[in-house]
Amino acid sequence: MPTRRNFIKTTSATVAGLGMTNMVTGSVFPPSSVVGANDRITVALIGARNMGWGDLQDILKQPDVICKTLCDVDDSVLAERAADLAGLGQKTKVLEKDYRKVLEDQEIDAIIVGTPDHWHCLPTVEGCQAGKHVYVEKPLANSIGEINVMLDAAKKYNRLVQVGQQQRSGSHWKSAIEFVQSGKLGTIRQVKFWGNFNYGAGNLPVPDSDPPDGVDYDRWLGPAPKRPFNQNRFHGSWRMFRDYGGGLMTDWGVHLIDMGLWAMEVKGPPRSVVSMGGNFANRDRALEMPDTLTVLYEMEGYNMIWEHNGGIQTGPYDQNYGVKFIGTNGTLVADRDKWRVFPESEGEGGRMEPVEEQKADFQSHVNHCENFIRAIRFGEPLHAGIEIGHLSALYAHLGNLAYWANERVIYDGRKRSIINSPTANALITPDYRAPWSFPRILI
Ligand SMILES: NC(=O)c1ccc[n+]([C@@H]2O[C@H](COP(=O)([O-])OP(=O)(O)OC[C@H]3O[C@@H](n4cnc5c(N)ncnc54)[C@H](O)[C@@H]3O)[C@@H](O)[C@H]2O)c1
Repeated sequence: MPTRRNFIKTTSATVAGLGMTNMVTGSVFPPSSVVGANDRITVALIGARNMGWGDLQDILKQPDVICKTLCDVDDSVLAERAADLAGLGQKTKVLEKDYRKVLEDQEIDAIIVGTPDHWHCLPTVEGCQAGKHVYVEKPLANSIGEINVMLDAAKKYNRLVQVGQQQRSGSHWKSAIEFVQSGKLGTIRQVKFWGNFNYGAGNLPVPDSDPPDGVDYDRWLGPAPKRPFNQNRFHGSWRMFRDYGGGLMTDWGVHLIDMGLWAMEVKGPPRSVVSMGGNFANRDRALEMPDTLTVLYEMEGYNMIWEHNGGIQTGPYDQNYGVKFIGTNGTLVADRDKWRVFPESEGEGGRMEPVEEQKADFQSHVNHCENFIRAIRFGEPLHAGIEIGHLSALYAHLGNLAYWANERVIYDGRKRSIINSPTANALITPDYRAPWSFPRILI
């Protein structure tokens, strides 16, 4: 039986080649999830500008973890982050533009994928194939087809995939979920999520231009369609364009919907999804995603509702975003700072005891990174493994698909299809632009 490291050495050319052909027929690596408790863990960061860099910083706070490689398609990001890492006392040995070179490196145990959403799938799938554990940012990917193949790859290659849904590692979120599950709120009939953010309005349009010096723009686009460079579709603001992201629905939707799925112990797709909205308030802006959206998820015995408004920052309960669980005895309302209960007042003493406001400790992200490293080193269960990231991304993408198709949609998890709307079903899997091809994992 080959070890993982020498196996990678002898097959690295094949594995790298999979980036282009992506037809995998057999299990490449023997199942193993933990390194020795005293082994140093070597990580690489792919996509270093913003959140990936935040992830790396908290991962490096864990004992005996080093970063060997920074990978980005923008030279200025690479230079800046290499200097930042040096400031943290870490000398990065390798700066790389092609993530496949990172995957060939047998010294690297784990990768962090901090690229835009359209670039989550290939590095994660190929990373699993190459024997790496993966911390991939949320949403798991930019389409239902991609999240499905990522799930298959993580399972087939038995790799740890932690999804960047750090609320799963937040102590006040955990206590909120436990409170909902205690039954004290009575029967939960509705779970509501809302996200009102200025950035959801998009930016003012700017003309197409040349890409900035030092940017490999073709590689930034990767599997997405070829288009002239436009600053609005690039660093940070790509979220509002379908080829790369899913707008507020997926950007915040996965974080908040995840809390509802967790509390209500949901394991599969909704019964159906209806979605309505449009760009109603920011028509002069550069964005493809709706600035206004309401999504109704039909669940077993209760409703779930997502709502977002781009371009404003106020919302119910004086929160611009949040989750609320509406029970017969009271309503629990949570955000990243706190959770509160609003008891129903009817009857002597009301229907439930008053509950003190619970505050966050703001450690969720560092806890999430610690959990990833402890999972690799000690086999600790992941807080947001790929199934969790998969389910919340599925819900968020179904919200967008129902909107684009303008139809009520029913997703069959076994068939991995939308069974009642050919229009929505056609949007499940994106066409990849050559030379990139959509990964296929034969189980
Ligand atoms: N967990 C959270 O709370 C949270 C918060 C913010 C962002 N995110 C997620 O993090 C991801 C990145 O978002 P961001 O705000 O950092 O985006 P960003 O645009 O600021 O940074 C993305 C970086 O990836 C690089 N990149 C693009 N294609 C690449 C490729 N093929 N190889 C290597 N590098 C490549 C870009 O050059 C850029 O430096 C997104 O999926 C986003 O949803 C998560």
